[in-house]
Amino acid sequence: MSDPLSPSPEICQHIAQYLSDQGYCILESAMPKSITDMLYQRITTMRKEDFFQAGIGRKNNFQVDQQYRTDHIHWLHQDQASEAAYLAWMESLRLGLNQALFMGLFDYEAHFSHYAKSDFYKRHLDAFKGNTNRILTTLFYLNPQWDKQDGGELLMYENDKSQIPLHTIMPNMGTLVIFLSDQFPHEVLAAQQDRYSIAGWFRVKATGGVLDPAY
Ligand code: OGA
Ligand code: MN
Repeated sequence: MSDPLSPSPEICQHIAQYLSDQGYCILESAMPKSITDMLYQRITTMRKEDFFQAGIGRKNNFQVDQQYRTDHIHWLHQDQASEAAYLAWMESLRLGLNQALFMGLFDYEAHFSHYAKSDFYKRHLDAFKGNTNRILTTLFYLNPQWDKQDGGELLMYENDKSQIPLHTIMPNMGTLVIFLSDQFPHEVLAAQQDRYSIAGWFRVKATGGVLDPAY
């Protein structure tokens, strides 16, 4: 029997199928409720000081640009129980996807995001073609009550040129979105109340000269 706190082989297979057919997958309750609840508890009780202003670029190139994004983030670590549970679930998914698709995914990194009222993230790609080690983006939502008037939708576009979103996704508790990082531009519309998510990336090993566009 498979560990109930890991994705079942069926879920891995389902995600793999969608990724190979269309490059993305949207699931409404893939993660066990126990993990989702723990993460919600965690993100809503962390102190303000535990989050920092998200930026663009890494290390020496790090820049905060509030024209572009205004959320605050906290990287997930193994030493906190709910964060470790999430990372473990994603680790099983990584192995499952490698088995199904031979993607050579090497590791995973993720952070909580808090969008306070009026916060947004303008249209962007998480990776630039041929110049990244970020292969797959995951977005997981932690908002138990979200209505149309709360804004904060994730708009996902088919490619660089498309102006009409392929999907408009409400950040509802338990929704998981996975897509090829260099293929799908996306944006977060201004939220009208506190909005919580976890953004993560499955990566391949860096092969030198790698530049990730964000954080
Ligand atoms: C990101 C991102 C979207 C969201 O952090 O790169 O696109 O819904 N986040 O939190
Ligand atoms: Mn993004």
